[in-house]
Amino acid sequence: MNLRDLATPAVLIEQSRVLANIDRMQEAADKRGIRMRPHIKTHKSPIVARWQIDRGAVGICCAKLGEAEVFAEAGFTDIRLPYPINPDNAPRVIKLLERTTLSFIVDHLEVARAWSDAMARTGHTVDVLIKVDVGFHRCGIDPNPATAPAFIKEVSTLPGLHLRGLLSHAGHAYHATSPDHLRSIAEDEARTLQALATAARDQGVHIDELSAGATPTARFSMEQDWITEYRAGNYVYFDRTQVGLDAATLEDCALTVLATVVSKPAADRIILDCGSKTLAADAARGFAPLPGHGLIFRDVTLARGQRADERLSIERLSEEHATVRVAPGETSPEPGQRVRIVPNHSCVVSNLVDQAWLTDSDKVLGALPIAARGRIT
Ligand SMILES: Cc1ncc(COP(=O)(O)O)c(C=O)c1O
Repeated sequence: MNLRDLATPAVLIEQSRVLANIDRMQEAADKRGIRMRPHIKTHKSPIVARWQIDRGAVGICCAKLGEAEVFAEAGFTDIRLPYPINPDNAPRVIKLLERTTLSFIVDHLEVARAWSDAMARTGHTVDVLIKVDVGFHRCGIDPNPATAPAFIKEVSTLPGLHLRGLLSHAGHAYHATSPDHLRSIAEDEARTLQALATAARDQGVHIDELSAGATPTARFSMEQDWITEYRAGNYVYFDRTQVGLDAATLEDCALTVLATVVSKPAADRIILDCGSKTLAADAARGFAPLPGHGLIFRDVTLARGQRADERLSIERLSEEHATVRVAPGETSPEPGQRVRIVPNHSCVVSNLVDQAWLTDSDKVLGALPIAARGRIT
């Protein structure tokens, strides 16, 4: 099958790029003795996760129990949820524990106690890591040395929980303004985890794991001492944002959207058949402003050295339309022509389709079901 046989819009995954991205990150982790535990949030596909495990990952991360249920069903036996799941979900966790090693994060004492009660009451113990806020200010305990060690100590004594270690996510790296800024975020993160681990060990608390993970900081985090595990997610496909943060090149971007020009209402405007329901409406992040909703490649074969046509800019998305401004003097694609788009944020694109297509240039290798997409509970 060839790209021209596919109905558009279609989400394409360039297989050789995915495998190269997995190999590169795994090699960097192996060199430092860091265990890779990729976050599946980007691909949501047991097929891609199996490629990651086969290349050396020790397990996977999911955000939601619904995703973990899909992966456990597919035979994955070591799943970590770096997400503060609510103790209402104890019956689902207990069921998952029958067939997989499962761990999740805690960052609130009452929630940790409720989990401990729910587990101990039913004769179970579940592995947890304490989430530490290293500057993103989403979840996580304040790493203040005056308060954090007492929290860690308290969690370590709860009978239904087995404290494995500390975990952080430097999500604020997506707002970094330079490579030096990214490096300092990675260094601060490692220092913060290390200081807390030392404080915990000084109180006799066993800390096995220091888990960090975010694609923009990966290249700097891999240079840090102390980190035992890395949970990058986006690196498997990359996207325009990672290119904007110098974490990837456009030739590393494995997920693209194949779209057709469906209208040309004016000489300087064309309409593509992929709106926010395919490209998603996330803005791109980067060291410099990156306006628009993705980068357009006119040559759908993704031939090496091919450049995005930045004179075609995706200015606006409706649900089913992408409005593209054609720069003055640029020859506009005509209705019926197809283009390939590197989106701003690949993770959200995978969540919008039941199935993507594995490709090799313009050849279609097969379907890639996104088995855990939409598992929001
Ligand atoms: C808690 C947590 N860990 C790891 C990741 C992976 O980060 P990235 O996709 O930047 O590699 C994410 C991404 O959202 C996350 O929320």
